[in-house]
Amino acid sequence: MTYEYILTETPAPGVGLVRLNRPQALNALSGPLMREVFDALEAFDRDPEVRCLVLTGSDKAFAAGADIKQMEAAGQVEMLSGDDFTDWSRLSRLRKPLIAAVSGWALGGGCELAMLCDMIVASETAKFGQPEITIGIMPGAGGTQRLTRAVGKALAMEIMLANRHLTAQEALHYGLVNRVAPVDSYLTEAIQLAEKIAGMPGVAAQMIKAAVNKAFELSLSEGLDYEKQSFYLLFGTEDKAEGMQAFVAKRAPQWKHR
Ligand code: CAA
Repeated sequence: MTYEYILTETPAPGVGLVRLNRPQALNALSGPLMREVFDALEAFDRDPEVRCLVLTGSDKAFAAGADIKQMEAAGQVEMLSGDDFTDWSRLSRLRKPLIAAVSGWALGGGCELAMLCDMIVASETAKFGQPEITIGIMPGAGGTQRLTRAVGKALAMEIMLANRHLTAQEALHYGLVNRVAPVDSYLTEAIQLAEKIAGMPGVAAQMIKAAVNKAFELSLSEGLDYEKQSFYLLFGTEDKAEGMQAFVAKRAPQWKHR
């Protein structure tokens, strides 16, 4: 598959990497670019050799938001009938863990895209923000909901109402990102984290991801019930038998990812 706005590779065993590649527009998230992102990540999600996904941009910009030039002429009819943001939920349906490796600008839709990922590894230069109000609109791809859940109401309000940017260190402090690394090593760190996850039993990894994400959708009792059923289901996997046998025999497990 050849793409125009992204690059794909498998930089480590079990790891599928998608890189946004529209540098002249700071990776502004046009409709065609996003469709390539969805297609490429879904292809890795279906690939049995891949067990963890990484999404990155350039050192200068993860993504500077939805494409303002594409939206400039649009009215509400075009926006409603095009309904591009419903498509973004395709990322929520990926079964394999997805890590965002973020450097430079992660603004508007760029910040929302990073927050749609399961984990974020940031470079020291990463800057997160939701500046939509400065062009007369508001976040439309999850910012009001996911950022508020991530950093709390008061700070989320300031970020969205006063166009406050969060530095990488602030994002780490507030729990928006997993870790911060120098700009020349954040991607390597993200790939190493992905490789470590890819080396875990794949079915368990997918079920953990699904259960953690349910914590944002369900009541505590429903979430606990979901977790318990998933836990019991894993007892039907070959990797459960192998993992426990290997522990008892004091040897390393050989995962089959089934
Ligand atoms: N859409 C389209 N083009 C964009 C863009 C965007 N979101 N962000 C940057 N670009 C383009 C610029 O127009 C410029 O193109 P030209 O060279 O053809 O003029 C190029 O990328 C480089 O940008 P700048 O010259 O502006 O670079 P800078 O270093 O001076 O500034 C920046 C960087 C602060 C990120 C600035 O580009 C900026 O403010 N961008 C817009 C950020 C924004 O408002 N994002 C929210 C978009 S709306 C949204 O995302 C809705 C949603 O919820 C999904």
